[in-house]
Amino acid sequence: MANDNIKLVCTRQELLETSYLTREISFKKKPVSAIIFIFEGIAYAYINHCMHMHRPLNCEQDAIFDETGKYLRCSMHGFIFDPKTGECQSPVCYGQRLQALRLEEIDGNICFTEKHLALGE
Ligand code: FES
Repeated sequence: MANDNIKLVCTRQELLETSYLTREISFKKKPVSAIIFIFEGIAYAYINHCMHMHRPLNCEQDAIFDETGKYLRCSMHGFIFDPKTGECQSPVCYGQRLQALRLEEIDGNICFTEKHLALGE
């Protein structure tokens, strides 16, 4: 039986060829942007929204990782996040998390598997 919660994001190969992708989605009926990337071989997705001052991580630069490649980094004020958990590592918002979005890899395709998510136009 088809699972309506599975929505194709891209192929794994497409994601391997770039540092990240963004997708316009609706999550819990709100239009938001998602960031999708591969870190240490695993695909992750988060809503592209820094809790500090409510900006997208790539608002000032076309990048979501810091120079070490070990942390996600908001380009507005430089707060960093654990790519595996979305947890902020910077003092002001320490421990707060980016909203994670569930992904699954199915036959080389990266798919959202969130119930309350719809792909944007
Ligand atoms: S808005 Fe992201 S670090 Fe300030």
